[in-house]
Amino acid sequence: MSDSQGYNFCHRHIFGIEQLTTEDIDHILDTASSFYEIGSRAIKKVPTLRGKTVINLFFEPSTRTRTSFEIAAKRMSADTFNIAASTSSTSKGETLIDTAKNLQAMAPDILIVRHASAGVPQLLAKHIGASIINAGDGAHEHPSQALLDLFTVRRYKGGFAELKVSIIGDISHSRVALSNILAFRKMGAEVFAAGPRTFLPFGLEQLGVTVCGSVQEAAEDADVIIALRIQRERENDSLIPDLREYARLYGINNNVLRCAKEDAIVMHPGPVNRGVELSPEAADSAQAVILEQVTSGVAVRMALLYLVQNLPQNSQESQEK
Ligand code: CP
Repeated sequence: MSDSQGYNFCHRHIFGIEQLTTEDIDHILDTASSFYEIGSRAIKKVPTLRGKTVINLFFEPSTRTRTSFEIAAKRMSADTFNIAASTSSTSKGETLIDTAKNLQAMAPDILIVRHASAGVPQLLAKHIGASIINAGDGAHEHPSQALLDLFTVRRYKGGFAELKVSIIGDISHSRVALSNILAFRKMGAEVFAAGPRTFLPFGLEQLGVTVCGSVQEAAEDADVIIALRIQRERENDSLIPDLREYARLYGINNNVLRCAKEDAIVMHPGPVNRGVELSPEAADSAQAVILEQVTSGVAVRMALLYLVQNLPQNSQESQEK
């Protein structure tokens, strides 16, 4: 897709925020804005992807991402199919690549993949012809979540320059954290982080993140607070001794919110562990935009589905494979 300045969106696959330029991100957010109002129509359907086939291939649990991609595809009139790990033949010993090749034999246009291992979307793209969208690969990236977070922040704050975005919690095991750090830094926001030392990976500063000694310090004058879920499924050992202790030291509650700007917004990718990452008052406060993130997610995923299927013929990446 080309705009009047000659910009081309040229990504046939969406593996991560790392591959996207600021122009790409602006373009995705602008495209999502144009789709957003479809969700409030009486008839929530446009013919944009009529005749296209979209498969959701999820090897890990999901409520928001899987449903959101399915709704996005259906709103654009695509045919959608869901395959969960428990019902796929990988549970009978078939390799991941054989499963993907068999799906490819049915000629899908887009495969949306979530897997516990980092790099699976790139691996599948080497073996099959469909566009691949990463719906979360291990602790690596979750690009559509970061894009919907950017979209939500842009709606509330108007832009990203000079915003203080504070990410709190389990950064080591969170694919949302890495995608959000890359995304907010690319778009010009200042990113701060706080959490138990065992949840703060080495090298955060090299990504342009300011690491804070306490959640209060991270929240001080923040415009955006993003609380992360504790990723128990990706911890090899228990890295925090006690959830009540975690909630006391790192949970977002009214006392923490008082440190932030008065109009700060509180975000969480979900699922929320109430009383752990967020106190019930913070989760239900007027500053919380968690459900708005979910609503935005459908528009952002519509944009991604649309853009990977509407590449210009001469786009370099569109000619790969
Ligand atoms: N935010 C997110 O990825 O949620 P799900 O695990 O429900 O998809």
